[in-house]
Amino acid sequence: MDRQELEAKARQILLTNLKQGVADWNGKEYSFVCPSLTGYPFQWFWDSCFHAIALIHLDLEQAKKELTTLMSGALPNGFMPHMIFWEMEKQPDFLGRNIVGMTTPNTSATMQPPIIAYAVERVYQATGDEAFKDAALPVLTGFYRWLREMRDPDNDGLIAVIQPEEAGTDCSPKYDEVLGLEELSNQGFITALRKVYAAYEPLRGDDHRVLAADLFHVEDVLVNSIYVMGLRSLARLLGDAPEAAEFNREADKTRDALVAKCWDEEAGAFFDLSGVAEKPLKEVTISSLMPLVMEDLPRPIVERLVNTWVTDPKHFWTPYPLPSVPASDPKFMPGNPRGFIWRGPSWINTNWFLSHALRRHGYADLADTIVAKSQECIEKSGFREYYEPFTAEGLGARDFGWSTLILDM
Ligand code: GLC
Repeated sequence: MDRQELEAKARQILLTNLKQGVADWNGKEYSFVCPSLTGYPFQWFWDSCFHAIALIHLDLEQAKKELTTLMSGALPNGFMPHMIFWEMEKQPDFLGRNIVGMTTPNTSATMQPPIIAYAVERVYQATGDEAFKDAALPVLTGFYRWLREMRDPDNDGLIAVIQPEEAGTDCSPKYDEVLGLEELSNQGFITALRKVYAAYEPLRGDDHRVLAADLFHVEDVLVNSIYVMGLRSLARLLGDAPEAAEFNREADKTRDALVAKCWDEEAGAFFDLSGVAEKPLKEVTISSLMPLVMEDLPRPIVERLVNTWVTDPKHFWTPYPLPSVPASDPKFMPGNPRGFIWRGPSWINTNWFLSHALRRHGYADLADTIVAKSQECIEKSGFREYYEPFTAEGLGARDFGWSTLILDM
C-alpha cells in the first residue's frame, strides 16, 4: 500500500469515528474521534492524544479540536479524566458491559498515561498556533502538577496508578499478582477488579486516601516513562517561563528513579513497583521496554534491553513484533483473548512509541522493521485494535482509531 492509499484509509477511519455536537450535560461543544464506534463510543484520554498525532498528517484543524475537546474535560483541580462520556445516551449500554470508576456521572475518576503535553507540542509544532498553545498551557501545568501532588505520595518522582486501566494496559499479566487473579480470563479479571472497586467505594475521589489504603498502588514503568516524555514536552512548550525548570527537574527525578528503583540488573528489564513497600513485580511485559522512550537512558541499559529482549525471537522479536508480552512467558496468549487484552498481541501504539525510541537510540534498521511489519498488519487485516504476533491476524475492535498512528511512524 503506498502512502496515499494508507492516508486515504486512515482518513476514512478517523472520519467515520468522528463525534461532533454539543453535550446535553455541560453545554460544551465537542469534536473528537472515538476509538471505535462499536466498542468504544466515548472520548478516551490517550487514544485522543494518538488520534491528534495521526491527524497532524491529515487535518490540522481537527487535530487541534481533538485536543481542545479533551482538555475541556479537565477539572478545576487539574485532574484530567481517562474517559469523557460526551454522548450520555450510549452510557447505560457501555456500563452494562464494563466497569468504570466514577465520582461524577459524565467522566471517569481515573487517569491514563500522561502523553497529552507531547501531543500538544506536536500539534503546536505543526501549526505554529500560539493561541492553541496559550490555551493549553494552564491545563497542562495544572494536570502535571496534579499528578505530582496526588500520585507521588512518597515523593520519589514515580507516580502511582490506583487500578490497571489507568496504565492503559488493562489486563496485563504484570498486575496478576497484585489483583490476586484467580482465573486467567477477562471474567476473572473483572471479578478481581470488582473487589478493588468495592474497597474503593468510600474513598473514591480522594486519591491520597486511596493510595494510603494500599490496595492497588503500582508505580508503573510504562506510565512513568510516558510521564517523563510529557514533562519534557511541557518544559519545552513553556520555553523561557520559570515553570519550565520545575517540569524538567521533575522529569530528571522520574528518570533517575526509574533507573535506580525499577531497573533489574539480573533480568535486564524494568519492573513496576507494587504498594507502599515498592515490591518489584517481576513480570516482563511491553512496559519493561518503555523507558527506551527516554533519550538519556544510560547506554548500557539501552543495549541490554535491545539485545536481551527486543531482538530475541524467543521474547519480543516475533514475526509481527512487538507483542505485549514476550513469547517466552507461560502466560503469553497470542490469539483472540475475548477481551483479556494486553497479554500477547502486538499493538500499533506501543510500536509507535518504541520504533521512534529505537531510532533515536541509533537502531534505524530495527525501527524500520517494526514500522514495515506494523504496516503489513494493517494491510493484511485492516485498522484493528491489536494483531496476532505470528500471523498478523487482526483482533479486537474494528476500524480502531489509534492504529492510524502508522501515519506518524
Ligand atoms: C482498552 C485499552 C485502553 C484504551 C481503551 C480505548 O481499554 O486497554 O488502553 O484506552 O481500550 O481504546
